[in-house]
Amino acid sequence: MSTAARKTGVHRARTETKSAEYVLGTDTDESVRLGLQHRLWSAAAHEIWETAGLQPGMTALDLGCGPGYATLDMAQIVGPRGRVIGVDESATFLKQLNDQAKARRLENVDRVLGDVQKLEEAMPRSDASIDLAYARWVFCFLPHPEYVIRGLRRLLKPGGRLAVQDYFNYEAMTIAPKNAAFSKVIAAVGKSWRARGGDPDIMGRLPAMLAAAGFRIEHLQARQRLARPGSTLWHWPESFFSNYVPRLAESGFITEGDRDEFTALWKSTSEDPNAFIMLPAVYDLVAVRP
Ligand SMILES: C[S@@+](CC[C@H](N)C(=O)[O-])C[C@H]1O[C@@H](n2cnc3c(N)ncnc32)[C@H](O)[C@@H]1O
Repeated sequence: MSTAARKTGVHRARTETKSAEYVLGTDTDESVRLGLQHRLWSAAAHEIWETAGLQPGMTALDLGCGPGYATLDMAQIVGPRGRVIGVDESATFLKQLNDQAKARRLENVDRVLGDVQKLEEAMPRSDASIDLAYARWVFCFLPHPEYVIRGLRRLLKPGGRLAVQDYFNYEAMTIAPKNAAFSKVIAAVGKSWRARGGDPDIMGRLPAMLAAAGFRIEHLQARQRLARPGSTLWHWPESFFSNYVPRLAESGFITEGDRDEFTALWKSTSEDPNAFIMLPAVYDLVAVRP
């Protein structure tokens, strides 16, 4: 075990033994989608890390890290004297993180396979060892976000920070010109996340939840972006819809007719230079552990 791993009590994940899957899946398409998503949102990620004070030498957690696109960037920032621990319930994603860390010769990346709502089980010997925990697009999928906060109260050092990027009012996402087939799919996306205990409005509840656990909210802001056909950002909703709309039809949240109507709409809108999408706003929150 490395010195830093000894310090934090974190072992390398045994990624072959167990795998869970979140609502969007863990196949190659989803991994590629997450890669594009990270590319398009990496400046925003860097900004929140800066705001939350991520520095060389720190120990950081990436909660629900997925294939680890953000984890690897954070590892470059904390450098060889620091450490980043990626936690995810997907063994498939953690294996990709491991492969990438090796390919980039980053030796300061650890992986923990587990449920972020059960951090006491996943990281039992790591009390007060973390300087910064980052969670991007994870809280919106969790039935018990309060359990994550409870776990972080234990894991974060006094004065340590939690940085979150997530949604509020997700279903406000709108295509212009407005279209009923689009609105139906967006409503079904929200319904499908809620059906599994998630909350596409999570950022509306997090500040109060964190305050109740004794955290101080240091920073809150919203990022509202607009995508036009032909822009790189257009491919963010495109890659999401091409993965998720078929899943919505398979699981009965929309009909096959709704799916076909949406597909035709998407195709024609993608060719319309006058169309645009108001994307779901992404909210930044930084909270300090007392
Ligand atoms: C939308 S992806 C975001 C991945 C990464 N945070 C990013 O921004 O690129 C959500 C991730 O959260 C993970 N996840 C969902 N619920 C989880 C849970 N209860 N415990 C651990 N990981 C979870 C999924 O496996 C997936 O990797």
